[in-house]
Amino acid sequence: MKDPLSEHQFAVIPTIVSGNQETVVVQFLKTATELLKQAKTLEEIQEVWQKLNALEALSKKFRLSKEVQLDATELRIRIERRLGEMLSQINQSREGDIKNQNQNSVKVNLDSNDSKSIRSNLSFTKNEWSKFQQLASTPHEVFEAVITDLRIEAAINRQTALSTPRILRAIRSQQKKDSEPLFSPIIKPSDNWNFSTVQYARIHEKLGEDRGYIPGEIYANCFWYYVKPGDLVIAPMAGSGQVWRVYEARKEWMGQHIYDFKLKMFDLTPRGKYKDLITQHDLTKSFPVINPDYIIIDIPYYGMVAQQYSNKSEDLANMALENWQIAMTTIAKNCAAVQQTGTLCTVISPNYRDVAKKQVFMVTDIIRSLWELAGYFLYDKAYSSRRIQQNQTPQMARMNNQAKANHIMLTDITEVLTFRRV
Ligand SMILES: C[S@@+](CC[C@H](N)C(=O)[O-])C[C@H]1O[C@@H](n2cnc3c(N)ncnc32)[C@H](O)[C@@H]1O
Repeated sequence: MKDPLSEHQFAVIPTIVSGNQETVVVQFLKTATELLKQAKTLEEIQEVWQKLNALEALSKKFRLSKEVQLDATELRIRIERRLGEMLSQINQSREGDIKNQNQNSVKVNLDSNDSKSIRSNLSFTKNEWSKFQQLASTPHEVFEAVITDLRIEAAINRQTALSTPRILRAIRSQQKKDSEPLFSPIIKPSDNWNFSTVQYARIHEKLGEDRGYIPGEIYANCFWYYVKPGDLVIAPMAGSGQVWRVYEARKEWMGQHIYDFKLKMFDLTPRGKYKDLITQHDLTKSFPVINPDYIIIDIPYYGMVAQQYSNKSEDLANMALENWQIAMTTIAKNCAAVQQTGTLCTVISPNYRDVAKKQVFMVTDIIRSLWELAGYFLYDKAYSSRRIQQNQTPQMARMNNQAKANHIMLTDITEVLTFRRV
């Protein structure tokens, strides 16, 4: 190969740069690019790499423009990638030859004898070869994206430099990000919110914690589908704070799309390990915050939880149907009074079947009409199993048999009703 950037020419750079330094270095960079295109062997590419190192050092020594310095570094890193590619190609073709000669497969790596002999003719260290091969094994799009990003960053910020270790670090973190799933399996793609394994399970009192009936996954899905970045979210019946547990763990179920919003919790009877974060408030009196972007209410399920949370008369769990309806009418109006047009309010509730009395209560229909009367329309609906009937306990077996004997189904589906303020 004819070398226009000969030793002689190269040696005169220091004197030339004292004159029209920048133009000369730019010209040498162009020449190096051409040389690289023509180079066929590792030795020829190594020569260009050595010259590039010298140009890079000179551009820094003579404080040439950042642009020229970055051009030199970028070209040197591209040469390193090329060296890595060539070494891999040589290894692969030798591996193929050996395989052909011998049926036993032989893996050639950086420490194989072949590879060692190739490297012994060149002046790179084992560590440098390893870096070159890492650069070479990076997919084209990833390498180009990373080098462009880091170059822009280095051009803007005087403190950051473009370098091979930085490029390799950025490639590794990009690849780690790419290997993470795009979306969490906790977030359901349809309105069937059933969870075969529950990550945020019912919190058992026996274990020293408090209860939370719904799988926390329901909160995660509500947040995902109804909450925007920066929203103010209110859970006015937060109970033992399952909603907070899910909110805190949002990194787990938001996957690569994590965003922030504010959550405030209230309850008539705050309890459990998040008690200190929950403010005591009776929702039948008023709504505790103005202008919430989103309200999520996990109400006491009508007819199923009397005396479970407290023995207070204002506790919806302890109310007979008539008082329950009056209280829910007031709650719907209290929500409507503080919400702006277009904001959302979710109410979570199953229907209720009294197997012994053979009565069916269409609770979710009642909720819908109360919220519509208060100034909302039904915007969305999802369904989720309460995962109660699956419990294989003797008590559950008795209840199931009673339901069948009385021709009245038990309730196992929770409806997640989301209303939009008119
Ligand atoms: C189904 S539980 C919510 C459980 C909650 N998901 C958790 O993580 O524990 C219903 C909650 O409504 C609360 N509650 C009942 N009546 C209320 C009222 N009038 N005002 C505010 N909260 C009330 C109860 O104290 C109970 O915690």
